[in-house]
Amino acid sequence: MAADIRMTTIASSMRLIEKIASLRAPLSEARRRGQSIALVPTMGYLHEGHLHLVDVARRHAAVVVLSVFVNPLQFGPHEDFTRYPRDLEGDAMKAERRGVDLLFAPPVEELYASDRTVAVTPLSLADRWEGAARPGHFTGVLTVVTKLFNIVQPTVAVFGQKDIQQATLIKALARDLDFGVKIVIANTVREPDGLAMSSRNAYLAPEERRRALVLWRTLRAVSEAFDAGEYDGVELEQLGWEILATEPEVQVDYLAIVDPQRLEPVAVAEQGTIVAIAARVGGTRLIDNVILGAL
Ligand code: PAF
Repeated sequence: MAADIRMTTIASSMRLIEKIASLRAPLSEARRRGQSIALVPTMGYLHEGHLHLVDVARRHAAVVVLSVFVNPLQFGPHEDFTRYPRDLEGDAMKAERRGVDLLFAPPVEELYASDRTVAVTPLSLADRWEGAARPGHFTGVLTVVTKLFNIVQPTVAVFGQKDIQQATLIKALARDLDFGVKIVIANTVREPDGLAMSSRNAYLAPEERRRALVLWRTLRAVSEAFDAGEYDGVELEQLGWEILATEPEVQVDYLAIVDPQRLEPVAVAEQGTIVAIAARVGGTRLIDNVILGAL
């Protein structure tokens, strides 16, 4: 049904838009027709994980806007901003085939004036984990997501569970700053062997890719131990560290067993507790997580 609505309303094929001003007309037209709008923010180099977000967005709204923007603000000075993989032509083909209505791919100057003086900074939710490992990262993420919410004014926005701290912060952003946007978190899509899909997997050499599987082995084992009745946070964490130690070349930043609201370590795990890992495999930093009781 959503596909029919789309054909009669927006356009028969996707539009690629670079300017904020050019997005306004099709979005106003959709709103005039009473259509709901879903936003899927991405940094491009689309893989099946992103396209799953598009599918989820389509279930929630008649019009799907996908943004592709490698956001310089969320990369630290020694991070991979310049070498982050980009392929706008390939992204456009994939997005169109998946039924995206509007692909918004602004150049950096379109989103950031050189004399900008305002950013959106998180409070305590960003103190630990990714926030501690990547100072300023979440200010970059929340600033660009705020801008995208203001530009697109979506009814719903879809983010991936793989970036669980980001997802938690964006839910807080929408609530605390009264955006009136429903935030939907979509499941992580995995390769057949369990590796979470990520644009950064493209950096992994074959041997590194094999080593990276220890993240999934660890998360699955902790999750299975929980399902088998182990609720003690310390015991679950110890099990996780034992499995991570089987790949000594993988440098673990953190293994966190935390509650889903505050992302603080729990003494006793329960349904919904998050187990999250960040680790460096060669030069590539990977993150992954599971929600206990949900596998
Ligand atoms: O998850 C990402 O790809 C990015 O952090 C996001 C949400 C698109 C903001 O740049």
